[in-house]
Amino acid sequence: MNLPNMIEAKKRDKNANIENYVYEEIRIDDSLKGKKYYVRTYGCQMNEHDGERIKGILSTQGLIETDDLNDASLVILNTCAIRENAQTRVFGFLGLIKKLKETKDILLGICGCMAQEESVVNEIRSKYKYVDFVFGTHNLDGMVGVINECISTGKQNVEVYSVLGSVCEGIPENRDSKYSAWVDIILGCDKFCTYCIVPYTRGTQRSRRWEDIIKEVNKLKELGYKEVTLLGQNVNAYGKDLYDDYNLANLLRDVSNTGIDRIRFVTSHPWDFTDEMINVISECDNVMPYVHLPIQSGSDRILKLMGRRYTREEYVNLYNKIRNTIKGVSITTDIIVGFPGETEEDFQCTLDVVNECKFDGAFTFVFSPRENTPASLLEDSTPIEVKSERLHILNDVVNKYSLEANQKCVGEIHKCLVLGVSEKDSSKYMGYTENMKLVNITSDIDIIGNIVEVKIDDAKSFSLNGTII
Ligand code: SAH
Ligand code: SF4
Ligand code: F3S
Repeated sequence: MNLPNMIEAKKRDKNANIENYVYEEIRIDDSLKGKKYYVRTYGCQMNEHDGERIKGILSTQGLIETDDLNDASLVILNTCAIRENAQTRVFGFLGLIKKLKETKDILLGICGCMAQEESVVNEIRSKYKYVDFVFGTHNLDGMVGVINECISTGKQNVEVYSVLGSVCEGIPENRDSKYSAWVDIILGCDKFCTYCIVPYTRGTQRSRRWEDIIKEVNKLKELGYKEVTLLGQNVNAYGKDLYDDYNLANLLRDVSNTGIDRIRFVTSHPWDFTDEMINVISECDNVMPYVHLPIQSGSDRILKLMGRRYTREEYVNLYNKIRNTIKGVSITTDIIVGFPGETEEDFQCTLDVVNECKFDGAFTFVFSPRENTPASLLEDSTPIEVKSERLHILNDVVNKYSLEANQKCVGEIHKCLVLGVSEKDSSKYMGYTENMKLVNITSDIDIIGNIVEVKIDDAKSFSLNGTII
């Protein structure tokens, strides 16, 4: 049995050789052939993409996907550990499956970032004995082996590696969309921001070889995909661990040369954002003018405690450079309120920077202490009510600027990639502008999967309404 160890996870050898290998298929136990499986994924886009792989592996083994939990013989929860409430949701859902398990045979597994946490795994072993198997983010490709062993022994099987991580190419994927695809370019994270659990759960920073990425994009283009989103916890660090003279700017140019219609990338840490990258984004028509640039706080004192490696001034300078160089760019951010020791003055600095930058959008969070992270050990005397109040105040300001940015689009014509039917109104379609604004589109003809020109009729804080022209 392998258990994760978070102290070990931090003792990294930066010069260690990262294992790079190709996926090897293992036959799943015959008892599962033809049975239905249900996968629920929480968390970020990288985890969503892992969810597509879990489905890919199971489907190629002859299992059938269902979105009805009651129909499933195999249930897998692909979890997120970023904040306490992400974990609470998973434990809540587990309770529901426990009840269902009393009425029928279900094989239940947990994977994803929670599975890489020592305390969670210990809790599952002691209190959640009805969970049949656990595997981590580093051995997703070994999932079938873990399931088979669980079936053959009839015991709870926990197999989570506390390693630097590896790069496994060629895992089958059942992609959720036929038009827009996730493409991992760099796995893990080495930044160790003091509040964040990701470097522990996802392992060290490791880039995929650029040849493998280009091959994947070419294949997606052949399959009819219109858009790829290059993924990483910090895509700007792409290549640093592999090459001396090949970075994200080079990769963006090479992906651009494949001729795929749209290229996006998330997430960018302000620390590694180079002028070369800004130039590539502004020069290549198929690299979309959208940057997600998390600031986290507007207070230099808090930024330092967070280990973010930039000051507010440096952030704002970068922000303005991006704004002024890339035509039509939209910029969104992430902000944490209530970091340990955050004073009213610190919070005011955050509001000030939001008023200065006027972001197109922001994801805002209340600080959540994560196991074994340095920030979780800091003295924190701010009551939760005060933190919630700060979040509330911040959201009002953030939403005001989102609405303003969206209102500027009214009357303009925007190219939108239409991904499906609108969730809010099934008589409309939904798509994204080049600068990543969600548009509900009125059209008499089916436009799903196409890039169409849309006249923007009106704006809300989180979406636009428009009509096809
Ligand atoms: N790699 C990305 C962020 C991934 S996590 C980056 O560095 O930009 C997404 C967001 O969750 C972070 O930007 C941060 O705002 C938030 N977050 C991470 N850890 C958190 C914690 N412990 N409490 C509250 N929010 C957190
Ligand atoms: Fe977490 Fe910081 Fe890495 Fe982002 S850059 S994943 S916030 S440690
Ligand atoms: Fe969550 Fe893991 Fe992503 S903690 S945000 S699923 S990297």
